[in-house]
Amino acid sequence: MSSCLLRFLAALLLCVVGATATDTVDWWESATLYHIYPRSFMDSNGDGIGDLNGITSRLAFFKKIGVTATWISPIYDSPMADMGYDVANFTKIYPVFGTMEDFDALLAKAHELDLKLVLDFVPNHSSDECEWFQKSIRREDGYDDWYVWDDGKIDPETGARSPPSNWRATFGGSAWTWVEERQQYYLHQFLAKQPDFNFTNPAVRERMFEVMKFWLDRGVDGFRMDATNFLVEKRFENGTYPDDPVGTGPGGGPMGGFSYTKDQWESTEIIYEWREFLDEYQRLNGGDTRAMIIEAYSNVTVLSNYISNGTHVGGQLPMNFNFVSLNENSDAETIETQANEWMDVIWVKHKMANWVANNHDNSRSPTRMGESKVDAMTMIIHALPGTSVTYYGEEIGMPDYAAACSGNPCNFRDPERTPMQWNGSINAGFSTGNSTWLPVNPNYPFLNVQVQRGVARSSLQIFKGMTALKKTAAFKAFKEEGGFSYSALSKQVFQVIRTAVGQEEYRVLANLGNQIEYFDGLTNKTMEYVLLNSYSPHRYGDKLDLSGRIYLMPYEAVVLHWSE
Ligand code: NOJ
Repeated sequence: MSSCLLRFLAALLLCVVGATATDTVDWWESATLYHIYPRSFMDSNGDGIGDLNGITSRLAFFKKIGVTATWISPIYDSPMADMGYDVANFTKIYPVFGTMEDFDALLAKAHELDLKLVLDFVPNHSSDECEWFQKSIRREDGYDDWYVWDDGKIDPETGARSPPSNWRATFGGSAWTWVEERQQYYLHQFLAKQPDFNFTNPAVRERMFEVMKFWLDRGVDGFRMDATNFLVEKRFENGTYPDDPVGTGPGGGPMGGFSYTKDQWESTEIIYEWREFLDEYQRLNGGDTRAMIIEAYSNVTVLSNYISNGTHVGGQLPMNFNFVSLNENSDAETIETQANEWMDVIWVKHKMANWVANNHDNSRSPTRMGESKVDAMTMIIHALPGTSVTYYGEEIGMPDYAAACSGNPCNFRDPERTPMQWNGSINAGFSTGNSTWLPVNPNYPFLNVQVQRGVARSSLQIFKGMTALKKTAAFKAFKEEGGFSYSALSKQVFQVIRTAVGQEEYRVLANLGNQIEYFDGLTNKTMEYVLLNSYSPHRYGDKLDLSGRIYLMPYEAVVLHWSE
């Protein structure tokens, strides 16, 4: 063989190997995942509540800002005691949100735009208004055991009845509620209106597969599985339930430590079953991976097992909630610690990471951490390897609106669920109605998408800049040796480096503090400013010699670029 041909073959091989390295990154591994809260995203019919057609009308926005996948909080028929996390009918659309035709149109349009669409799935519980629960109350048609029922304890002396255990519900009060008609208690780990399914019953497991299949057949790209760490509870062989140890409750409270209701191993096995089902579905029907996002506020050991235990595989993407508790005192070192907690276990074992700073259950980060840190956080979340998750409005830095209240009593999570701020017109462009289900934050005339579109260095521009960077060779090479590194350079300055070795490098420098910071000799490279927030005195295209002393202004956050 001629040396020329050999060189050609070697080059071809390199090309193939090179292509494999980045092409093995599946869509969910490095997505820009956007969380839509349907009630608050876009109202198409003026009733003051967001809906499916509203979402469809805004899909083009996702393309403009570089989003690649979305997940939508529940859209199913529900009495809305827990804003849709209390499902009455798992295969019917909540009429206020629209119809099944609207859903199909939304999905078709999303796919036309090459956007993935993941549905929230609420397997742990239903609404008490769900037909299955009503049948279970009446012990009808094999539904007897669909929920966790128990007689409770009878005091041998007084004959008084009390709940089966001292378990507390997440939202407060006993986790057991008495049903007169059935003469038994049922378990609910959230509201009393959210009875817990009995996942030891094969009929329940089977029905959940059927529900999943229903939505997969319509074409959804995966599910965000709600409250997966609550699926199975501890029950002794004699049918009794162990009490939570005294003193394990929130703040050392007398009870309610969830020792026997959360993180039971059997829940992990159910996730493995779901994964098998989803993989099999893909094998039979083709198409891209149907991904499973896992919602569980559990430690990394539990989450690691949700992904895989070495013999079984489970959810691809357990949400990393380490950043949702960052607050005004959190600094670059806190961020490094929180990032390490995830990376040391999950990255090391599974080469997987995702970063969530906001969702519908937690105060928004501009309120928790301070509005000056919005851009720094956007840069960090998108620069760290893996998938970035954005809660609607996060891309423009929407804070909580403390006065927002949707009921009597108010839902404690209302402040972070106010309508999306699209523009300066009535109701921030969210709705043309006379009122909205939650009030629009009065800051909307100057904090909205339209304003930020026209302003260089706005939070939205930073967001767009970062999602664009996620498509570069350096950002795509994150699973390769030397593909990334991060650290706190000082108490307040966080750095992330993304590298396509020998080709190019991006370096995020984010100052979370209100003081000027300086560093000497970070590297011998001269780099170019390619993304700058409004705190930066520099200009796009300016060069920075990092072998000398460099300065960062208070809250300055920048991205630097170097290429061979
Ligand atoms: C987690 C959801 O995010 C939250 O909103 C809901 O209240 C609980 N799970 C119960 O479904």
